[in-house]
Amino acid sequence: MSILPASPFQLVHNPRVDRIGPYGDARRERLGGARFLQAQAEIQSWPGYARTPCVALPALAARAGLASLHYKDEGARFGLGSFKALGGAYAVFRLLAREIERRTGVATVRAQDLTSRRFQEITSSITVTCATDGNHGRSVAWGAKLFGCRCVIWVHETVSDGRIAAIAAYGAEVRRNPGNYDDAVRRAAQTAAEQGWFVVSDTSYEGYLDVPRDVMQGYALMVDEALGQVPDARALTHVFIQGGVGGLAAAVCAHLWERFGAARPRLVVVEPVNAACLLESARHGVATAVHGSLETIMAGLSCGEPSVVAWEILDAGADDFMAIEDEPAADCMRLLAHPVGQDPPIVGGESAVAGLAGLLLAADDGGARAALGLGSASRVLVFGTEGDTDPELYRRIVGRDAASVRAGGRGTPGAGEVASP
Ligand SMILES: Cc1ncc(COP(=O)(O)O)c(C=O)c1O
Repeated sequence: MSILPASPFQLVHNPRVDRIGPYGDARRERLGGARFLQAQAEIQSWPGYARTPCVALPALAARAGLASLHYKDEGARFGLGSFKALGGAYAVFRLLAREIERRTGVATVRAQDLTSRRFQEITSSITVTCATDGNHGRSVAWGAKLFGCRCVIWVHETVSDGRIAAIAAYGAEVRRNPGNYDDAVRRAAQTAAEQGWFVVSDTSYEGYLDVPRDVMQGYALMVDEALGQVPDARALTHVFIQGGVGGLAAAVCAHLWERFGAARPRLVVVEPVNAACLLESARHGVATAVHGSLETIMAGLSCGEPSVVAWEILDAGADDFMAIEDEPAADCMRLLAHPVGQDPPIVGGESAVAGLAGLLLAADDGGARAALGLGSASRVLVFGTEGDTDPELYRRIVGRDAASVRAGGRGTPGAGEVASP
């Protein structure tokens, strides 16, 4: 019996992947090395820091014909509900530290200096801004509140009221822009230029590369934690990771490549079929935008333009790209809530489970299984990048709320629906 109901998917191997060369100093200077150590020390010093769990799912692994499967569950990250807490807030910190250095010459600013409001006169005069489909904006708004600056967040047409309220709860001003995520990115950049605000974007474009690198450097902490939590990180054979603009996937790719070189696990990037800009980029051998509504329940992955910085890394370091429909993501959310055998129940949001959904579809498909080298010796890691960041949508899809899932009640498997965004 198949694990998820059958659903069509696309699978593209990256013919340019460098499986032999080391990560290299040129890349390390921009992402990794000392920059990672700095991000790690900084974020670990923040109030409320705790490693998120990396959960073994042996029954699901057995069902999928794999040796092991681990799910790094980011639902509890800093109380914000997603891994994005690591990136946007760290970039806000870095930006404020740079501005303070520029204006005062003090080059050693740490988080405590900002949380104690030592430089309040400077930080309170700074406004940070970004576009978001929810999670990144929440992180930037939280960082702005924690470190004491102003914050204006742009959301696109279909971002839910629940997600907007969650951002506004951190004191940010939230503005809605007509169009899709990419339109909101442009609006944020334009307003910032007019107003003298600072863009803290999770996506990069020509002329805007450094801040998104800080964002990705923050994400790398999640990868590092996971490698310390799985029983034998060197034995991992595959990592499946979801892609929006690609910043997350590139951070995962870079960290694995730097750490394990040619022996790194195979990296499969999974996107919604309506917003598969990374897969299309792999297909064309160049960063390629996809257009249209980008509609998907996987709100965090609803991005049509790859991040320039991210694509550079993925082009050279990612092995394969998949595009999936919405139904397998919804099915996967329900599967985690009503787990197989004795596996623990997990609350995974719409965007959290794309990597897992891609894995389970591929594991069930003879051709994809062979193409990806998945088999009974495979040890797989996936990143569950959010919890129920939109609680109402989660309840509609899973048929129960997160508290009831966590309490471990079995509920009715199959309840719930695939909701339109
Ligand atoms: C929960 C979740 N997972 C994955 C992603 C994808 O990250 P990226 O856009 O860096 O590819 C996002 C982006 O917002 C997200 O919110």
